[in-house]
Amino acid sequence: MSSNAAAASNFSRILTETIAEIGGSGAMDDIRGYEPVAGNERVRMAAAQFMEQNGAATDPDAVICTSGTQHGLFAVLSSVLSPGDVILADRPTFSGLIAVARLLKLVVVTIKGDDEGILPSEIEAACQRVDAKALFLVPCLANPTTITLSEQRRVEIVAVVCRHGLIVIEDDIYGALVDDKPSTLASLYPENTFYLTGLSKAVSPSVRIGFAKSPVGNEKAAEFMAAAVGATTLMMNPLSAMVFTRLIANGKLAQLINEQKSELKARMAIAAEEFADFDLRLPEVSPHLWLPLSPQWHNEAFSEQLRAQEVFVLGGSGFAVTPREALPSVRGSVSAPRTRAELRRGLAIIARTMRLEPHLTSLSV
Ligand SMILES: Cc1ncc(COP(=O)(O)O)c(C=O)c1O
Repeated sequence: MSSNAAAASNFSRILTETIAEIGGSGAMDDIRGYEPVAGNERVRMAAAQFMEQNGAATDPDAVICTSGTQHGLFAVLSSVLSPGDVILADRPTFSGLIAVARLLKLVVVTIKGDDEGILPSEIEAACQRVDAKALFLVPCLANPTTITLSEQRRVEIVAVVCRHGLIVIEDDIYGALVDDKPSTLASLYPENTFYLTGLSKAVSPSVRIGFAKSPVGNEKAAEFMAAAVGATTLMMNPLSAMVFTRLIANGKLAQLINEQKSELKARMAIAAEEFADFDLRLPEVSPHLWLPLSPQWHNEAFSEQLRAQEVFVLGGSGFAVTPREALPSVRGSVSAPRTRAELRRGLAIIARTMRLEPHLTSLSV
């Protein structure tokens, strides 16, 4: 249960059918060589459609296709920030941001939040303390906390970042899973938001495709991002582009997303049952859970205890910029187990272990 996956049971069948459809249509003849770095026109049009459905309308010419959202994050950070630059982020924050920031020698300063997510007043305070250039956020179903920022909170955040001229990097990879989705930051602050998304959470990581768009009117940033994609992968994988374009055209993408949502809903309902006696705020639909532990637990000791029982979760340390920030919490993916029964078994083990007194667990050697 350490990483997210396609939970919808029809995923492999629909993927197989779609690939057969592509093969039968002779479309493979179109992908014999290198393609434009940002993706061919067909895939950029399909990506613009997907982005628009997710509340980030864009001109297809402004779309940059990447080999996943993580690749888009690398492309943005490497093209708009320089070593030593400060980027603000949630505390805890997405481990992929920490990894790219380390590689590019950027400084991540994390910001306190409450039950509703990152606090605008704390962003303001951080801007007074440090010369921050950017703010990174996952506004829907944040990884790891699963918090979705309300419309009001988004508006307040935008007011602060606008006042300080911060660039926003909006990673909306979970956005397609959220019903009644609030406005994207890209629509509230189009002049300075880089918007990233992809299919890994709404469908499956295996399709390996991501979409990025730079702030409206900032052609220079778009050129730099395309250069970053070119320097790292030359172009996005044309096979992935073809699968995605076909899934949009045959209507199966919408079907897969709906099935993923309803499967995740059923799985979160199982989680709600297994953790009924804990004070947890679980979202209705999410591919992962964030489980605060009693303060006596160290997150790595807890994960170790689960590993011994063949249950794999990610410790809070992976989402902390410094060891001091690591919370006694773990993240478990409800999408990872192949079946609901397997999920229930894993969750029952986690819940049982959460009820243990940490010092008693060492007696079992
Ligand atoms: C917030 C966030 N962004 C990006 C990624 C990685 O996305 P992709 O598989 O599209 O590269 C993840 C995966 O866990 C994620 O949680």
